[in-house]
Amino acid sequence: MLTGKQIAVVVTGGIAAYKVPGLVRRLIKAGASVRVALTPAAERFVTAETLEVLTKYPVLREGVAYPDPVAHIALADWADVSVVVPATANSLGKMAQGLADNEALSSLLANQGPVVFVPAMNHKMWANAAVQRNVARLRADGHYVLEPGYGFLAEGYEGKGRMPEIEEIHAGIEAFFACQNLDRPLDLTGQRLVISAGGTEEPLDPVRYLSNRSSGKMGTALAHVALLAGAQVTLVQTPSAQSLPALPGITTRQVTTAQELYTAMHEEIQSADILVMAAAVSDYRAAQASEQKIKKQDQAQGLQLDLAENPDILASLPKDQAFVIGFAAETQHVVDYARQKLEKKGAHMIVANDVSQAGIGFASEDNAVQIVTPTDVLAVAKQSKYGIAAHILAQALKERK
Ligand code: CTP
Repeated sequence: MLTGKQIAVVVTGGIAAYKVPGLVRRLIKAGASVRVALTPAAERFVTAETLEVLTKYPVLREGVAYPDPVAHIALADWADVSVVVPATANSLGKMAQGLADNEALSSLLANQGPVVFVPAMNHKMWANAAVQRNVARLRADGHYVLEPGYGFLAEGYEGKGRMPEIEEIHAGIEAFFACQNLDRPLDLTGQRLVISAGGTEEPLDPVRYLSNRSSGKMGTALAHVALLAGAQVTLVQTPSAQSLPALPGITTRQVTTAQELYTAMHEEIQSADILVMAAAVSDYRAAQASEQKIKKQDQAQGLQLDLAENPDILASLPKDQAFVIGFAAETQHVVDYARQKLEKKGAHMIVANDVSQAGIGFASEDNAVQIVTPTDVLAVAKQSKYGIAAHILAQALKERK
């Protein structure tokens, strides 16, 4: 959620600007207050009137009166963050150079904190060396630049340059606030993170499976926060996590069963700095999955399922390669059980949550956890899974030193 956040949406002149009203609506629905600035070129793609109706506030643009006479400074001072969406190659270039030849870009130069850029352009322009140099410059200056997606472009063919989907931009903004809302901003530059998310599915027959209530939201939030913090991220998704948006720039790998997850994690840990087992693994699978659908009339005496134990992936992973973080879903004695899991599975850190409490844990947007290390227990109060993710990763960096 973005409750109480004040977001300036700065629109520059690309065709993807036509999607901005949808983004603005979504941010408002998530609890944010939104004000908009349009460059002259953006006004050719989206109208100020539409955005004024949605935000209930005048749009900052050339030659039109604004509620404050020093308009660009007023907008920058008001905003907790400015999000440039879509960010054209031209505007990225100007900002990398500190140039501002219109009201909207002037407001960006007046920002005290980092700006979030959401580039969208033709894939050949995105690949251009000068554009990449400008993106690197902006990142080095402490700004956040989301990767464009791969997909259908306005030109009528596919390529990397597409504006991320609205729900992905929303996720990126949540992750941005989570990275910033710590004692000091989370920085994972140069780190490779591997994160598993969701619940495994163990087939019983071609139409049925054993699984659990894991939604994949915690693991996906970890991946988004790690990406925004500058890490190279691989997200290993079970089916429940595959339906959640994953920001472009995250490498995804898809698995279904615990055994597939086992293979994926053992391969991925080879080049990982930090590995997080956020997936809820089914402890058991059918000893022999039926090739045909199990029929009801064949089971006059009720159905007996013969289950075989799955490998414990966390316990089996090498611990000398990467900093390994596990989770513990408990309904009682939360810290004691987490300590036992830390020791038994040889993890460097266990994130314990009480899944019996309503409003946190499985499937909800929020969580409250205890981070258990060999020497410490750190309680992280109830907050969004993005906030929890940032605390977990910040603690991992501290512990690893
Ligand atoms: N885990 C795993 N492989 C399994 C079971 C669990 O890698 N076969 C990992 C989970 O990803 C999590 C941690 O171990 O990071 C703890 O999972 P949890 O379900 O809480 O614990 P279990 O070991 O299954 O123990 P129990 O169900 O008895 O509490």
